[in-house]
Amino acid sequence: MRHFGTTTAVVCLAAFGLPALAQTNEVEVMHWWTSGGEGAAVAVLKEDLEAKGTGWRDMAIAGGGGEAAMTALRARATAGDPPTAAQMLGFTVTEWAQEGLLGNLNEVAEAEGWDAVVPEAVQRFGKYDGNWVAAPVNMHRPHWVWANAKVFADNGLTAPTTWDEFFAAADKLQAAGIIPVAMGGQPWQEATAWEAVVLSISPELYQKAIIEADPEALASEGITQSFDIMRRIRGYVDDNFAGRDWNLATAMVIRGEAGMQIMGDWAKGEVIAANLTPGVDILCSVVPGTQGSFLFNTDFFAMFDVGEDKRQAQLNMASAAMSPSFQETFNLAKGSIPARTDVSPDKFDECGKKSMADLAEASAAGQLFGSLAHGHGQPPAIQRAYLDVVTQHFNSDMSSADATAALVAAVEAAK
Ligand code: BGC
Repeated sequence: MRHFGTTTAVVCLAAFGLPALAQTNEVEVMHWWTSGGEGAAVAVLKEDLEAKGTGWRDMAIAGGGGEAAMTALRARATAGDPPTAAQMLGFTVTEWAQEGLLGNLNEVAEAEGWDAVVPEAVQRFGKYDGNWVAAPVNMHRPHWVWANAKVFADNGLTAPTTWDEFFAAADKLQAAGIIPVAMGGQPWQEATAWEAVVLSISPELYQKAIIEADPEALASEGITQSFDIMRRIRGYVDDNFAGRDWNLATAMVIRGEAGMQIMGDWAKGEVIAANLTPGVDILCSVVPGTQGSFLFNTDFFAMFDVGEDKRQAQLNMASAAMSPSFQETFNLAKGSIPARTDVSPDKFDECGKKSMADLAEASAAGQLFGSLAHGHGQPPAIQRAYLDVVTQHFNSDMSSADATAALVAAVEAAK
């Protein structure tokens, strides 16, 4: 991999009598990392790039899960002015690549041996048509329960491993005047809980009803049960949850105002940003019944094909984002684990170490699945159909049977 700075590139071209192509050694990066923990992780990326001579122009679009950022990205691309690089989740990378708008990163990927260190499940989304089009920076795990350790200890509770234990803990917390479950009322947050509930019923159900969108599995008793569990969870959420951002829900757990939150490990970034120790001050355990399986979502940086003058800066960014030392530092702040399998777990906290060990175990057992709520289960249009029904059910008194029927119809219509 060549690392030409702006000056070097211009000087070299001029020396060969070629017209100097003004290299822009700056990247404009669109992302949705705006919470405290996410901001700390972005700072790691920005500093790393700047130290390597590549400038950073920030284009942050607030909104967990990235829906608002993806709308803004579509508008920029439609206007013929996409950013140099954009944060993207699984199937979104595929969709932009299908449209022929992403640049090819093979030059860096081959020189740096990405194929050998990135898990197959992640490569599937980072590559399109056999070519690398996006650099994976992490593996997030969305199905965790975060619990306030002091609140739990004061109430004689330990991390729940079954739904019975979860609801028994919720009852105790409620009796003690603590909000049992902190939640934010946004479709992607409700779907983050729902997909974990489906996985807890069985990994086979997750595979069939979500990954394969199989109509029979979608109409099954297991899906109806998943809506029953969601309705029970709703009973332990406070009345002000509508529209609440995920990080505000995490803050409720951090302050001890709420006992638990079901959320991905970006919540761990908030714990770290609050100078608390994950696994000690805020307990991490996987959603009851999902031990042995691993849902994942990876944040990619996809590079738009925005011209030769920006290409070197894009390759620099892709290379920097994939370096083992960067992946370690970045993920220590972000709450996720590296997208490379050759980074040591040593510096990671208890929850990160568990995530790495569980990932290896689940992959070996064929129990690694893409997260639907976070773009790795179904392409965006079908994903939306699931999210619409899950949110409609959670925010009304719709019966589980009606929600199941609505889901079957919505997914079929979206296919
Ligand atoms: C992204 C995370 C992000 C979270 C909340 C997820 O979809 O993968 O990086 O922290 O959304 O915004």
